[in-house]
Amino acid sequence: MYSPGVRSWTIYITPLLFLAACGEDPAPDPCVDAPTYTNDIAGIVEVRCLDCHSTSKVGPARQGAPEGLNYNTYDLTQPNFLAFSNALTSGRMPPPSGGVPGTTPFERDVVDEWQRCGNPR
Ligand code: HEC
Repeated sequence: MYSPGVRSWTIYITPLLFLAACGEDPAPDPCVDAPTYTNDIAGIVEVRCLDCHSTSKVGPARQGAPEGLNYNTYDLTQPNFLAFSNALTSGRMPPPSGGVPGTTPFERDVVDEWQRCGNPR
């Protein structure tokens, strides 16, 4: 039996169902706006680490920081990357004795996100 009412209903609804299905976005990539070393990390390292872990510091000026453990550049952070980033995210470095104020929760979060997103340059 011819039923114009039902047919026109189907014509309008069917494309909408397709649109709804296509509109389901995959979960957003949490690393789209990941921090980068250049924009976000270098400044933290300069203030929190280079008083001791710098190629320009020798002898007592290193305040006990191991010789050769320097963080002046991105490349220098890579060989022992986990020690570097964990020292930061845990708040273990800078040490309380050195006169360099400890990292803020915000700084630790930024480093943590940078680490989880593959430490982009
Ligand atoms: C006031 C000086 C000073 C500052 C600033 C400092 N460190 Fe250190 N660091 C030391 C000393 C001293 C040692 C060796 C003794 C120790 O391990 O506690 C050390 C050791 C380390 C080590 C090797 C041992 C470990 O804990 O894994 C890492 C990695 C490290 N520092 C990372 C950092 C990072 C990253 C920063 C910046 C957030 C930083 N340090 C800031 C003095 C400093």
